[in-house]
Amino acid sequence: MLVFDRVDYDYRQGEPVLRQLSFGIQPGEFVAVIGANGSGKSTAAKLMNGLLQPRAGEVRLGSLNTLNRDDLVRIRERIGLVFQNPDDQFITASVLDEVVFGLENLRVPRAEMSRRADAALRSVLMESYADSAPHQLSGGQKQRVAVAAVIAMQPEFLILDEATSMLDPQGRQELLQLLHGLHGQGLTIIHITHHMDEVLAADRVLLLSRGEMAYDGPPASLFSSDTIAGQPLELPFAARLYQALGLEVPVSADWKETIEQLWAMR
Ligand SMILES: Nc1ncnc2c1ncn2[C@@H]1O[C@H](COP(=O)(O)OP(=O)(O)O)[C@@H](O)[C@H]1O
Ligand SMILES: [Mg+2]
Repeated sequence: MLVFDRVDYDYRQGEPVLRQLSFGIQPGEFVAVIGANGSGKSTAAKLMNGLLQPRAGEVRLGSLNTLNRDDLVRIRERIGLVFQNPDDQFITASVLDEVVFGLENLRVPRAEMSRRADAALRSVLMESYADSAPHQLSGGQKQRVAVAAVIAMQPEFLILDEATSMLDPQGRQELLQLLHGLHGQGLTIIHITHHMDEVLAADRVLLLSRGEMAYDGPPASLFSSDTIAGQPLELPFAARLYQALGLEVPVSADWKETIEQLWAMR
């Protein structure tokens, strides 16, 4: 289990960014993390895999603790991170090298390395691009390669920090399908996003507000709760339809079904 235990963080003294943040994420969950710009989502992501260390409190993964230098390598092997800008992720000249690069750092034996890299590229449907230069790919393809580079390391947790935000609708859709497929294979997904439609597909939503946890629960009750009212967040399409029709947003709804019903009523 990944645990935040009363975590405080600041970049400058006297300007707290995360305050007493506590939550646990169990293996196998699909968690969406939302919140206004500057609410601390990216900071929390970096604390999760030990890129940052808490000022107070602890971030633990099982018996590992990001405050212990000796634990950091193992934590980063188990928690992979994909960032927002696909162009910032690449350091090598080919798609295959990109996936192999992380494995070299882990000192995986050569035969095993190529087996894992091939499997990772296949699982993101990018095996036919192994020799391509990353800059020739679309944004969505780049993000899928970034995911392949992470999953080749066989992590337990995959964190995506607004990884869909620079993609066109098709690229976004393909990446989401991939995430749900990986989740089905047992990977724990932590998906930071501002697309509320993506939030609906998660098991659980964490809403950060000024570095504090404003909501932790299932997506359906978030969108009908008062919590969301004060947040600069866009409601999902179905909830906006309810409001536009002057109907109360239901506490719990199968949103896919709801959209279909409303569509049929038009
Ligand atoms: N490297 C940094 N140095 C100083 N302040 C930062 C840095 N990164 C983020 N911040 C500040 O921390 C707060 C939270 O930022 P961030 O975690 O990036 O939020 P989010 O990802 O939710 O937009 C913001 O006020 C931001 O300006
Ligand atoms: Mg961010």
